[in-house]
Amino acid sequence: MLMKNKKVLVVGVANRASIAWGITEALLREGAEVILTYQNERLKERVAELAESVSPKLEIIEMDATIPATVEAAFASIEARWGKLDGLVHSIAFAPKEDLTPGIVKTKLEGWNTAIQVSAYTLLEIMRPAMPLFEKAGGGSVVALTYDTTKVFPNYNLMGVAKATLEATLRYAAWDAGRKNVRVNAVSAGPIKTLAARGISGFSKMLDEGAKKSPLGRNVTTEEVGNSAMFLLSDLASGITGQTLFVDAGQVIVGAAASE
Ligand SMILES: NC(=O)c1ccc[n+]([C@@H]2O[C@H](COP(=O)([O-])OP(=O)(O)OC[C@H]3O[C@@H](n4cnc5c(N)ncnc54)[C@H](O)[C@@H]3O)[C@@H](O)[C@H]2O)c1
Repeated sequence: MLMKNKKVLVVGVANRASIAWGITEALLREGAEVILTYQNERLKERVAELAESVSPKLEIIEMDATIPATVEAAFASIEARWGKLDGLVHSIAFAPKEDLTPGIVKTKLEGWNTAIQVSAYTLLEIMRPAMPLFEKAGGGSVVALTYDTTKVFPNYNLMGVAKATLEATLRYAAWDAGRKNVRVNAVSAGPIKTLAARGISGFSKMLDEGAKKSPLGRNVTTEEVGNSAMFLLSDLASGITGQTLFVDAGQVIVGAAASE
């Protein structure tokens, strides 16, 4: 029960395959109370089904992190329900396909702005209203999801740039929030087949090559990523902030796929 008495907002569940759902399951297993947000009406039914599949069922709130009014309303209802917050999960990203696929040199400003806004700036957009609630809890922990920014992955393009922005942003956020006992970290997950991953052309190749070069000889699961995110949200990680924890079966340490 590592998360007993902890209240955590999880942003980014779209369906059962979502990394955010893997995190939610780990949090619930360890005794946390969880509220989920869903991005819009289109995703509501699926998220509601998941929220009802656990006992007691979870509250779900609509929130598009790029629409300040929905963020404000979501945090107002969290404050009314809990009066405090211990943890926040940022598991959201997006880049327009027409700017993602052709390669970074061809990326247009509008697509660039959208990708950076949704995938990086929203961390600040949701941390801001979370801060007073963390203060009421005596501190807090924020976890974002990233993907290896130490290398170039053909086809990852604009999303790789957005992830590098996210990681730099979280380090500064860790500095800003640290004196309030709020920690900010990222989990750098290996490739996992999710809705968002389908937007990256050649993603199955990333999966195949990742598994081949991984010291563990495989890819990771949302359960493994969920467990590590839960650890960062728990008091066991009380001395860790501003870090990116690789949960990728070791892929980041290997430069090229091992020979057959
Ligand atoms: N799948 C992978 O291989 C992988 C690897 C490393 C990191 N990640 C990261 O994990 C995170 C979760 O992605 P996933 O792979 O679970 O896919 P997913 O499609 O299940 O989740 C992405 C979520 O982002 C949400 N989202 C997008 N724009 C939003 C907005 N404006 N407001 C609120 N929510 C918004 C979507 O509704 C969805 O729930 C992302 O940051 C992704 O980049 C994924």
